[in-house]
Order: sequence, then structure tokens, then C-alpha cells
Amino acid sequence: METPVTVDDGISNPSTNRPFQDVLATNLSRRKALIGGGATAAIAFFGASSVAEAGAPAKTGNGKGNGNAVFHNSLIGFAPCPNPGGPNPTISDDYQYDVIIPWGTPLQPGGVDTNGGRPASEAEALQQIGLGHDGMHFFPINGRSDHGILCINHEYGTTPHVLGKAFPESLEDVRISQAIHGNAVVELKRTNGAWERVASSYNRRITPNTPVTFDGPVAGHPLLDNPAGNAPAGTVNNCANGSTPWGTYLTCEENFNGYFGANETFTATERQARYGLSSGGFGYGWHVFDERFDLTNPDYANESNRFGWIVEIDPMSPTSAPVKHTALGRVKHEGIALTVGRGGRVVGYMGDDERFDYIYKFVSAKNWKSMRAQGKSPLSEGQLFVARFDDDGTGQWLELTIDNPVLAAEFADQAEVLVYARRAADLLGATPMDRPEWTSVAPNGDVYCTLTNNTRRTEANAANPLAPNPDGHIIRWRDSDKHVGTSFEWDIFLIAQDSHGTEAAYGSPDGLWVDPDGRVFVQTDGDQPYGNNQMLVADPKTKEIRRIFAGVDGDEITGIAVTPDRRTMFVNTQHPGNGDPSSTNFPVPGAGGPEIPRDATFVITRKDGGVIGS
Ligand code: FEO
Ligand code: CA
Ligand code: CA
Repeated sequence: METPVTVDDGISNPSTNRPFQDVLATNLSRRKALIGGGATAAIAFFGASSVAEAGAPAKTGNGKGNGNAVFHNSLIGFAPCPNPGGPNPTISDDYQYDVIIPWGTPLQPGGVDTNGGRPASEAEALQQIGLGHDGMHFFPINGRSDHGILCINHEYGTTPHVLGKAFPESLEDVRISQAIHGNAVVELKRTNGAWERVASSYNRRITPNTPVTFDGPVAGHPLLDNPAGNAPAGTVNNCANGSTPWGTYLTCEENFNGYFGANETFTATERQARYGLSSGGFGYGWHVFDERFDLTNPDYANESNRFGWIVEIDPMSPTSAPVKHTALGRVKHEGIALTVGRGGRVVGYMGDDERFDYIYKFVSAKNWKSMRAQGKSPLSEGQLFVARFDDDGTGQWLELTIDNPVLAAEFADQAEVLVYARRAADLLGATPMDRPEWTSVAPNGDVYCTLTNNTRRTEANAANPLAPNPDGHIIRWRDSDKHVGTSFEWDIFLIAQDSHGTEAAYGSPDGLWVDPDGRVFVQTDGDQPYGNNQMLVADPKTKEIRRIFAGVDGDEITGIAVTPDRRTMFVNTQHPGNGDPSSTNFPVPGAGGPEIPRDATFVITRKDGGVIGS
């Protein structure tokens, strides 16, 4: 989500990791090269071979490859989509969409649909699709492309939107507000061309009150214990996502700080302030009636340490508890892109979305299959790194380990390093970035990351070349040693401002996915040069970018999931009209009617049945 207005002026990183004066000359020359440099800049940094590899060859046929590789001049052959703005979505003439699972849809057919209104009770909300549709992943059943399980994040919903009042007035109000957060697991099936959720024992909701467990170095540590002795529960502000090679879903806790508040006078410690914890939070008011979220209740002194993690959900095991993986560090996790690196180790790239925060990488201790054979999660043990981008187009992954004397001087053990990962990264000299959002690993190994914007940057550096940067950019890098090394080469892929004045004008890139042919899908969340938030597709070689879809007034477009054949794509609208029916009645066409707009999932298909993005 776009950072709420209540904290939009905030910056949680007071560190001085930017030796701007040392790099100013480099910055200026690089900025010139990047702006208007187009593909030249990429080739200068990456070399023609890697760029060519990223761009093609694209396979024709069924998407699994048939040996007849053909070079395309462009990977993106569809008609550009206009972006007229207004209350209704717009899509390329070559594509079509349906809408499924809007907020309030009953989890099981026959249940209560509140149709955009306040749920009657917590129990009712728990039997419905939540609000704040965001990251998601499609898990096929029997490898099928017309039948599977969708895991979806419900990132947030403001109190007035959910409850119809400015502030909760009871614990039941808070429970309803909590119940629209978390995740949904929903079995979907395509019948006669139409997708719909079906009655299923897989269907379930996970919320801030669902029992969870911890694993990794912080599990069992006093920093996760409360005097109240309450068992760990819940996940919140679930933004983007990832998925694992072993078939599970990863959901990422972003702005968890906004759900905590204080009933007494609260002064954040330096470490708490680094995560933006404050007496009022984002105005949800949970702390007034739910003591877990009161930062000044000594019985729950460490409750906030239980949030800010990457959480694993097994969609095929409906009774399994979500697992919080502490080895991946505690930050405001936007999302995670997982790949398999040298030696079969699983590698995860993660953005921490706040102005001047960092990009992280996790590398599992061993081959993921052997870890699982030993009964261990590959995400339970490994190394955590943070990125430093140097001005010469190279970079270093700096390990967050207690074995580093710099960290040992401040932290007692590895658990403390992980709980306060932001502070540890400050001490290591990581590069403060322009709000790192989604990451994605391309088929040639390049890793992409959206940097959505940073209106507060006053001095540029090579990796963040605009000051201020109101429209954002996309950076990419190539790690040494098949993702497990500690050095990398990087370049700037796109600068959003370069698109302004063109047909494909966009700003604030956020959602991101590089498909198996190398196409870069970009979704936006923020002010656009014109029209609504949107999804575009870019060619990694030529950097041509083309709009495929645009949302409705007030929304953001987020979440990307595809079926195995890539003939169906699921994409979300989040906060359409910001809940105001005078702005849009989506999914009912138009605006001004009584229908409260509802977050929902678009099912996008090519009219000719082709691969999405082609
Ligand atoms: Fe939840 Fe940074 O978007
Ligand atoms: Ca986002
Ligand atoms: Ca965003």
C-alpha cells in the first residue's frame, strides 16, 4: 500500500550511510547517462550478452518450450491500453477480464455476502474474503491451469471503511477490523470459461488472531516472550508475497507498526523508533480494546517483536499453523522473490519499504532438498545479507552476523541482530534506497527491484539517481556465484520519469514480476501522470514499456499470479475509490450509485488464448 498519510512524512532511518559528498561527481555523470540514456545505460553496465539473454529467445507454443525458439523483435505484441481514468477499469483490446472474490464474498458458496458493508460480526467476517487484496500466488491442483488454490494477502482496510465509524468503540469492533486482515486461501476452478471459488476444505482465513509458530534463531528467545505468556498469534499488513520450490506460500508483514498504539505515555526506544512504533499508530485504535497492541502494557512488552517477519503458509494443509521465519530478519517486509542458487541453496531477495531503507538477501545454509529431508525448513537456517550499491556499478552483500565485531559490539546474540535487522544494517553501511518494494528473479538470473518513490531524497547517488524522486525507478543486479556470492553488478533498468509525455506514462512502480520469457510486468501504486494506477509490460532488452491494463479511480493495482500455462493471470485492485461510492462503484460499473466499491481480483486472459503479456 501507499504509506498512510499519518506516517507519510516519516523516515525511520536516521543513519548516515550516505557519503554523498564522496560520490557527487559520479552521481552527476551517471544521472546524465541514465536519464534519456535508454538501453545504452543497461548495456554499458551489464554487457550485451546478459541483456540479450534477458530479452530472448522467447519460446512459442505451450509456454513449456518446444525447441523451436524464435527471436522476437519485441516480447510485447499486444495493443497498448489507454488510461482514461474514471470509475471503470480499462484493458488492451487484445485482452479481457472478469472479476472474482471481491471483499465480503463468502469463503464457501452459500455463505453471507456483505456486499461492501460492515460485516455483522467477527464470526461473519471470518467466513468471508478479506479487504486490501495484495500479493497472491496460484497453486495448481494436479498441475492444472483451470483448477488450483489461490493464496491472497489482505493487507489493510481503514477503520472508517470497515466499520463505518472513525474509531472502534468496542472489542467487537476491533475484532471485525482484525478479521478483514491477513490472508485467504481459496480453491478456484474454471468452468465454461468462467473462474469462481468453489466449496472446499482448503478454503480458510488467516488473521491477526490465528495461532502461528516461530522458527529460526529467534524462536524461543526472550525477545519473543511476553510476561502475559500469550501464545504467538497472527499476521498483519500482509503486503507482497513469494512462493517456495516445495509448494508453500510466503506472506510478508510490512507496516505492522501502524497497528500498535499506546494507552499511556509512550516514548519509543531507539530500536522501536527505527520501526516507526508510535503512540497513535495509523489510527486503527486496536490498542484501546486489545491489550496485545498497547505498547505501554507491560504484560505485552514484546508483542511488537512478533511482527515484521516473513510467514509461510501451506495451502494444501488447511489445519497447519503459519510459520514465521526469523532467519530472514525483521523489517517492513514488502515481499520476497525466491530462487535456487549454487549448491541447491534457496535464495530470497527482499525489499524493506520505507524511505531510505534497504534491500536484503537470504541464503539457506544448505541444499534445500537435503534440509527438508532432515526435517528442517530451508528458511530456518542460513545467512542474511543487506545490499550496498557502489557508484561504479558493483555492489556488496553485507552479512548480518553476530560474528562481525561491529554487530557484536551492540548486540548480545544473533537473535537480537535479526529482531533489530534494520539497526544492524545501519551499522554495516547498507545503501538507503528509494522505498524498495517488490523483487523478481529473471530467467537469466538478473534480479529486479522496484523503488517506488522518495519525495524526501535531497541528494542523489548512483543507485538512487533522482533527488527528489517522486515517480520512482527500477534497479536490477546480477549476483556473483549463482546468487550465493557476496558481490554483484547492477544497473538502473527504468526511471519512471522517462515515460512521462509518452503513451505509457506511469509513476510509482510497485508490483513486479519477470516471466519465464523475460517480460517485466510492472504495477503501480501512487500518483500517475494521468489516468489511474495500472499494469505495464516491459522488454528487458529494449526497455520498451507498454500499458496492458488500468484500474479505477482511487485504487492501486497489485498482486500477480498466473496459472502454469500463463494463459490466465490474476491481478488485484486495492482500495478502489478508497471506499467512496461517489468515486467508483466497482465492481458495479460507474460511480455515484449506492454500491460501496470493493477490493477484488481481476482474471485476465488474452482473447486469442495466448500467453499473458505477449
Ligand atoms: Fe504494501 Fe510497500 O506496499
Ligand atoms: Ca506494495
Ligand atoms: Ca506502494
